[in-house]
Amino acid sequence: MKYYIVTFGCQMNEADSERIAGFFENQGYKACQKIEQADLVIVNMCSVRQSAVDRVIGLKPKIKGKKSILTGCMLKKDKAKLSKIFNEIIDIKDIKAKPIHLSKFSISIPIMTGCNNFCSYCVVPYTRGREKSRPAKNIIKEINGYKEIWLLGQNVNSYKDIGFANLLKKIHKLKCKFWVRFTSSHPKYFSDDIIKQIKGKITPYLNLPVQSGDNTVLKKMNRPYTIKQYKEIIKKVRKQIPDITISTDIIVGFPGETKAQFNNTAKLFEEIKFDMAYINKYSPRAGTAAFKLKDNVSPQEKKNRERILTEILKQTALENNKKHINKIEEVLVNDYKKGYCIGKSYHYKTVKFKGKKSYIGKFVKVKITDALSWGLKGKYAK
Ligand code: 5AD
Ligand code: SF4
Repeated sequence: MKYYIVTFGCQMNEADSERIAGFFENQGYKACQKIEQADLVIVNMCSVRQSAVDRVIGLKPKIKGKKSILTGCMLKKDKAKLSKIFNEIIDIKDIKAKPIHLSKFSISIPIMTGCNNFCSYCVVPYTRGREKSRPAKNIIKEINGYKEIWLLGQNVNSYKDIGFANLLKKIHKLKCKFWVRFTSSHPKYFSDDIIKQIKGKITPYLNLPVQSGDNTVLKKMNRPYTIKQYKEIIKKVRKQIPDITISTDIIVGFPGETKAQFNNTAKLFEEIKFDMAYINKYSPRAGTAAFKLKDNVSPQEKKNRERILTEILKQTALENNKKHINKIEEVLVNDYKKGYCIGKSYHYKTVKFKGKKSYIGKFVKVKITDALSWGLKGKYAK
């Protein structure tokens, strides 16, 4: 019997899918490459935006005649409708198994699950429950032998067990060469102790979601910081690590977001000069506090605001990327196509260069020759 997993959503869902694979392999199922070949289709869904839920419903013709199981981030109100499409719904928390990792050199390790923040637009505290940290000793054991390690959590810097900064300190002490990246962080908990640990194995990449550049909107979003405080964190981080890569998450068109309030976000984008941003159009989610507010920014206007931010981002990312030109940088290669290797640099920049397939999974040195908005080009240097 063959199984196929369809994964929607974030890196946390991708990590969960590796556990789902382990669960079904334990029951004797074997993985297949295409949904058409599968006897069993497992869909690991995301409910953060309605568009992701709609895509699950859109799978209906593809799973017809097959055994189908639905799991993942799910709202109670969607369950009834979805149970008509799928044979079975399993709570993701009940899928307990050793994960089967897709990559031999990169691993995503959830260090905590759930979220206690209740941002007014977000379903995560409802679908994933309250924050729960995993024991540090289990996390450390899993690092074994991998070259790129992603530490995952909705809010990694509120990691409890021994504290996030202490977890990073322990990781520094491990032998072997590997790179650690972590996501996502909350400005509310971002402490100086964590900033001090971003060096060596802990690579200079920070995803710090700001969500809006306007204090009134932030309040309505239940994000407990001001833009002044956010900018202070960025300033401190850059003082300590001048070449750090910084990304953010943004929601455009939050209920009641005026043009002037949006312009504050655009202004923030110009000031901070982000390297990357995940720009989301607001999607009303039943059960959240913001659901009671009128979703009064039109779809066209949301699209327009998304476009404006993308334009600024293209400029600032290019400007930042140009600073890497002529430097020799280390790259962990993850793909090879038609004579070219593609990988991520120490600073989490995408780098493309002429190379060999055998470089996949290896650290190689590359001289950066060109900068684009979304990555770098270079020449193999060693
Ligand atoms: N609408 C649009 N974007 C959302 N996000 C979370 N909830 C919503 C929503 N209702 C975005 C936030 C978060 C990212 C994972 O998804 O920007 O940081
Ligand atoms: Fe959602 Fe806010 Fe928690 Fe992030 S911090 S998962 S946006 S509630």
